[in-house]
This record gives sequence, structure tokens and C-alpha cells, in this order.
Amino acid sequence: MNTRRAVFPGSFDPLTNGHLDIIKRSAPLFDEIIVAVLNNPEKNPLFTVAERCRMIEEILPQIETDGCDFVVDSFSGLTADFAKKSGASAIVRGIRAVSDYEYELRMALMNRRLEPTIETVFLMAAEEFSYVSSNLMKQVFTLGGRVEGLIPALVEAKMKEKISHK
Ligand code: PNS
Repeated sequence: MNTRRAVFPGSFDPLTNGHLDIIKRSAPLFDEIIVAVLNNPEKNPLFTVAERCRMIEEILPQIETDGCDFVVDSFSGLTADFAKKSGASAIVRGIRAVSDYEYELRMALMNRRLEPTIETVFLMAAEEFSYVSSNLMKQVFTLGGRVEGLIPALVEAKMKEKISHK
């Protein structure tokens, strides 16, 4: 039987509970999900790609797998190329609100043009995460605001270490 493999690409700087919600929702749909961290030095990230991958690797075993295998990897270049090279048949993306739709639609159509055999699968994030983004979490946390329940505890601890060392 063919392995139903999907790539869930993103910056994950850092992983939020919104990302985890999408990972949990995608688990029953696929045999294997590659959580793929984009290596994009232009973005001036808070965490290195290696740090992001390590955090995700530590957090994923805590969630219900539904028989799905999770793999964490990083990539540079096009998501469509990475997905093809990985033998994935789908790219998973989360939609939080209508405002995400336009950007996601453009990406999905471009990815389809680049790699017609790979479908983008959109999953709707839980309402409670509809306003949660990595950037907002970093901003609020840096300014001393509370982010519990919105990011994994491990991510919060690592953010604390990063920010106190700045
Ligand atoms: O969740 P994010 O951080 O907004 O993720 C965006 C991501 C990584 C999915 C997107 O920027 C991407 O796919 N970048 C890789 C380069 C690429 O393939 N660009 C064309 C997309 S149509």
C-alpha cells in the first residue's frame, strides 16, 4: 500500500499551539507527516533552524499520533520541490481566519503549478487559536505579556532563555 505522506511546511519560529492543533488534525489523514522547517536566513529568526527542529522533535511525542508517523526536517528553496523530493502527495496548511485565505490560495495555486501531482490540503485551526501567530507570540512575550496556553511550555521556556540572553 502506498504511504500517504504529507509535508507541513512553515517557519515555526517558534511552534505555537495553533501549529500543534493543525498537526493533530492532520494525523488521522496521513500515514506520515513531515514537519518541514524553512531555512530562510532573510527572516532574522529568533531561533535557529536546528533549535526549532529540536523543539518540535521534543514536543511531537506528547501528542496523539493516530498511527501517523511524524518526522521533523528542514529545507531551503521551494516547498513544492521539497515535497516532491520527499515523496509527499500533499502539502498541509492551516487556515485561521478568512484573512489567511488569499495568501494561502495564491501559494496553493503556485505550488500546484510547480508540482501538479501535489495537492494542498487546508485544515481549519480551532477558533481559540484563530489569532495566534509566531510573530504575535514573540512580540507579546518580549514585551512581558502572558502567552501560556498559546505556545507549548517548552517553547515558552526556550523563549525565556533566548530573551534573557539578548
Ligand atoms: O507558516 P509560514 O511561516 O508563513 O510558512 C510559509 C512557507 C514556509 C510555507 C512559505 O513561505 C514557503 O513555502 N516558502 C518556501 C519558498 C516557496 O516555496 N515559495 C513559493 C510558495 S508558492
